[in-house]
Amino acid sequence: MVSVLCAPGGEDVDEQWFSPSFWGDNAVPVSAGGRGSAWFVWSPKGPLVLRHYRRGGLIARLSERRYLFTGDRRTRSFAEFRLLSELRSEGLPVPKPVAALVEKQGVFSYEAAILIERIEGALPLPEHPEVTDKALWYQVGKTIAGFHRAGLDHVDLNCDNILVSDDGIYLIDFDRCRWRQRSPGPARWKEKNLQRLRRSVEKRVPQGAAGKQRLWQELLAGYEGQPSWKDA
Ligand SMILES: Nc1ncnc2c1ncn2[C@@H]1O[C@H](COP(=O)(O)OP(=O)(O)O)[C@@H](O)[C@H]1O
Ligand SMILES: [Mg+2]
Repeated sequence: MVSVLCAPGGEDVDEQWFSPSFWGDNAVPVSAGGRGSAWFVWSPKGPLVLRHYRRGGLIARLSERRYLFTGDRRTRSFAEFRLLSELRSEGLPVPKPVAALVEKQGVFSYEAAILIERIEGALPLPEHPEVTDKALWYQVGKTIAGFHRAGLDHVDLNCDNILVSDDGIYLIDFDRCRWRQRSPGPARWKEKNLQRLRRSVEKRVPQGAAGKQRLWQELLAGYEGQPSWKDA
């Protein structure tokens, strides 16, 4: 059994839109920054990103794309679709969800996929030509602070889930992310998000240790709202 959830105006989206082969040459795998189950799609609705949900780790070998079914609302694709809609209504910079699919396989398992508007010209932070620009890192810090103030716990905050485009910075990839109690002050979950990002910066940013440290300080300054680079 297949369920499709659509954004208003997306009623023409059907099941086939979630299959890369349906698009032929109009779907190409995303090469930068993903885990190999995302495609850029040129659709009648404009450029989209299609993502299939995958399991990581050991179970992946047994059942790569199947999940335990506990009701449509709690499936990974429907949950991410809803979260993206909520984040947008909070005014936070995330791409627009277009549709989500759940395909039940027997009683207990399901496969899931989502279609999201592609942010044109956006690049993951490590791939961006201005990756060593301090002002950019300050803005990244400020953006993350906005999500944290709203109470969003991004459990997979890494450099590739930060997109830089001409009209600003976006966060993506909200699989398994969740709302926490809103509070302006520090919290363990906020620290954990930043620690996860710090490790990813170590791995992905093409700079020496001192350069990385300098950029990270700029991110923290933006996060705390202290523009140190303006004084320099
Ligand atoms: N809305 C979008 N607009 C532009 N590029 C995107 C968008 N969503 C994802 N991408 C690209 O696809 C990559 C993988 O997508 P992501 O949602 O992070 O899935 P995963 O990390 O699970 O593969 C991103 O790092 C980015 O390069
Ligand atoms: Mg990602």
